[in-house]
Amino acid sequence: MRIYLIGFMGAGKSTLGPLLAKELGYSCIETDNLVERLAGKTIPDIFSIYGENYFRELEKQVLHFTQLCEDTVICTGGGTPCYSDNMDWMNQYGITIYLSCDDEVLIQRIASSQKGRPLFTDAHAVLKLLHSRIIEYQKADLQFSNNDSPEATLKKINEALKNTTVYRQKD
Ligand code: S3P
Repeated sequence: MRIYLIGFMGAGKSTLGPLLAKELGYSCIETDNLVERLAGKTIPDIFSIYGENYFRELEKQVLHFTQLCEDTVICTGGGTPCYSDNMDWMNQYGITIYLSCDDEVLIQRIASSQKGRPLFTDAHAVLKLLHSRIIEYQKADLQFSNNDSPEATLKKINEALKNTTVYRQKD
């Protein structure tokens, strides 16, 4: 089984992914890391040298590669579900979990993070981007708010995975 963690920048996908994987005895990978390895460049460099469209192509390639990964939690980039047919694809090949957060929490986390995020220019622009993407995020099989501790969210996810029929249908 593959579990795709989706959500905006700062939603906590990279923090929660390894915790969830450990709990389930799964592996954990990040599409952003795979893109960087494929390009041999950092994400900010890919954006500035080749542009966003090229980044989106690599992102789609690595997403399709994850089809080969069994029992894996896949932490996606904030834009992954919003380009091409990626959201439908993830829903077909695994369980999708949307981590949502309040606007202020996202802004605070993004602003204090060391991760190079070329799409983070200012708070107003980034919130506009977020609100344009929510329609895609909401196509996820499951949704949890992740404003507080990752452990609290992990507990909610575990409970849902035990009970949900989605999990069994896609296994
Ligand atoms: C992006 C989010 C980033 C990364 C890239 C583009 C986006 O990932 O994929 O900078 O379009 O929202 P995180 O969500 O891990 O920051």
